Amino acid sequence: MERFRPEIHFSPAENWMNDPNGLVYYSGEYHLFYQFHPFSTVWGPMHWGHAISKDLIHWEHQPIALYPDELGYIFSGCIVVDWNNSSGLGKAELPPLVAIFTQHSSEGEKNGRNDFQYQSLAYSLDKGRTWATYRENPIIPNPGIKDFRDPKIVWHQESHSWIMVLAANDKILFYRSKNLINWELISELKIPIYIGLPFECPDLFPLKVLESEETKWVLIISVQSDAPNKGSGIIYYIGDFNGTEFSIDEFDLQNPTWLDYGADNYAFVSWSDTPQIDQERIGIGWMNNWLYADKVPSSEWRGAMTLPRKLSLVKTKIGYRLKQSIVSQLEGYTSNHHKYTAIGNYEIDSQLVIGQLAAPFHLSIICDSFEGKQLILRNEYREQIVFYEKNEQLTIDRSQSGVTNFHKDFGIFHSVNLESQFDKSRTRWDIYVDHSSVECLLNEGELVITEQVFPQIIYDQFILQGGQKEELIEITLSEISIKNTAPEIIKKRGIKGQAP
Ligand code: FRU
Repeated sequence: MERFRPEIHFSPAENWMNDPNGLVYYSGEYHLFYQFHPFSTVWGPMHWGHAISKDLIHWEHQPIALYPDELGYIFSGCIVVDWNNSSGLGKAELPPLVAIFTQHSSEGEKNGRNDFQYQSLAYSLDKGRTWATYRENPIIPNPGIKDFRDPKIVWHQESHSWIMVLAANDKILFYRSKNLINWELISELKIPIYIGLPFECPDLFPLKVLESEETKWVLIISVQSDAPNKGSGIIYYIGDFNGTEFSIDEFDLQNPTWLDYGADNYAFVSWSDTPQIDQERIGIGWMNNWLYADKVPSSEWRGAMTLPRKLSLVKTKIGYRLKQSIVSQLEGYTSNHHKYTAIGNYEIDSQLVIGQLAAPFHLSIICDSFEGKQLILRNEYREQIVFYEKNEQLTIDRSQSGVTNFHKDFGIFHSVNLESQFDKSRTRWDIYVDHSSVECLLNEGELVITEQVFPQIIYDQFILQGGQKEELIEITLSEISIKNTAPEIIKKRGIKGQAP
């Protein structure tokens, strides 16, 4: 087992990976494309790597899908199923998969131009196995904006149009098309407050509010700098989209919400064309942070995705909020469920039992409140990540979490304000631990914290301490086992393509 290699998270067989791209479901298969540098463990000329899964959990590596060409590197973008062959690139009985992505000319950038990013198209007629680039690329030339990238497309039923969102430094641009090839700029959204720049990887989709007939639109924006926990992060706005403009809900105007309060979730985008009902949307993020992504201490590979998550929308007293959960397909890979309950002023130190676990695990803790408590996940080397709550502030301390010295801002404390908008009588934590990450979902995902950690061996002990009153605590611990990485597949098929 390679050091730090995740078992239950997607990571590239080798070399550098960043954003998820081209997330699409078609013909029983989930596709995950990603920003990939096949010749180095640091960022460079971007290709689209590719993997396929039937259940979002077990992934099979595929050959590289898109290579840089004379127009430049292949940056982030999306794929949709063109069901009615609006593009004319397929046939009525064979809808094409249409990929639209940014191309980045490093030459143009070096020469000090500001028009070196533009949008291009490629399509597949064989279920995403091979891709042809459109002969008249780029389909959206650069209008003179330096940061002009990361198209994401959604079908807008009412106007029978394709809608694209695009990041342009401090703005989100909205485009419309009837055929996925000719695009018209229809509106620009300027975010009313300073958050951090540049914006990247936007996503836009409708979502039904749980337990109601109402539908709202969700706009997700990745923000490269100045997130609460340093470096990059993701915000979202809930609002309405009338086919031309997105209007941010009043509640949210001065106050965007962070999709993840940890340090390591970026470029989260959602799958297109999934069969799920309209009350949930599935997506995945790059489990990293631009602050130190090129320094994390893995070896042959660098970068992993979060667990795939289901988003749903809830109306709370301070506006609409997204809730997240890990997709239910993961349960199919869990076993050895241990259950513990304790009542009283307690100290549970179950490291003996937990120490027997060899696999990544899911730990769920249900108690009256987490206030005054401390949860430690650690291994026999006393490498540990600590979560504690005091005065409605949750602090995450990864200063002793393992290897931290590759960047000064890695081994630090993060704090999150926990004032809850959700009515609840009990507090629930769900924690997913892999060899180099901890994902923590509070109260059924009303708040999520994703953190990378680099311990010598996986944390296999947990300690829960504190608590000031008598209460019932229910703990469930399940092993998760997936053989996810299959480097031999990619080797057998071979990686072809240009050296950087
Ligand atoms: C976000 C990002 C995108 C860009 C890609 C390049 O992480 O910077 O804006 O398309 O990565 O790899």
